[in-house]
Amino acid sequence: MDAADMGPDLAQVLITEEQIAQRLDEMAARIDADYEGRDLLLVGVLKGAVYVMADLSRRLHRSAPMDWMAVSSYGSGTKSSGVVRILKDLDTDLTGRHVLIVEDIIDSGLTLSWLVGNLSSRGAASVEIAALLRKPEAAKVEVDVKYVGFDIPTEFVVGYGLDYAEEYRNLSFIGTLRPEVYGG
Ligand code: PRP
Repeated sequence: MDAADMGPDLAQVLITEEQIAQRLDEMAARIDADYEGRDLLLVGVLKGAVYVMADLSRRLHRSAPMDWMAVSSYGSGTKSSGVVRILKDLDTDLTGRHVLIVEDIIDSGLTLSWLVGNLSSRGAASVEIAALLRKPEAAKVEVDVKYVGFDIPTEFVVGYGLDYAEEYRNLSFIGTLRPEVYGG
């Protein structure tokens, strides 16, 4: 789905498909270098991370197994609460593994903060984060993110995995919606 397919719902293209691809190239090169000689387990967080995982992992010049978690934060609408419930857990034993969490976005940081603690407590050798997007001004907790694609303003964004009410995940770029779309 591209900008033309969005019709009037699209307010602005924030990050183009080409910019995403270029940044993922750079992130993958750093991950390749940093994890050279070490095992690496990619952990994606459903559903938003599907596109980042697919495109980032394919850029690595090594084999990297992946596993998936689905979590839900008890919060209303677009707000995280920090209380996280596991909807789908990993199939993989993390003991001694070098884990790289792959995420689409860090907003308040509450989900990732909880996740890093949770995965670390399972005996992982290391737990790091790769996130395509980060909203620095929305941070409620400090999260140490090793690989960040783009810092963006505190705006509601969709596309490339990010949804509004489950819509627009399959947009090829990151964009903003006209406020009318979500009753703003
Ligand atoms: C998004 C995103 C992170 C979380 C970030 O997931 O993928 O997991 O919110 O928010 P936070 O930093 O404020 O905790 P969401 O709950 O929207 O689920 P989804 O990936 O299925 O869309």
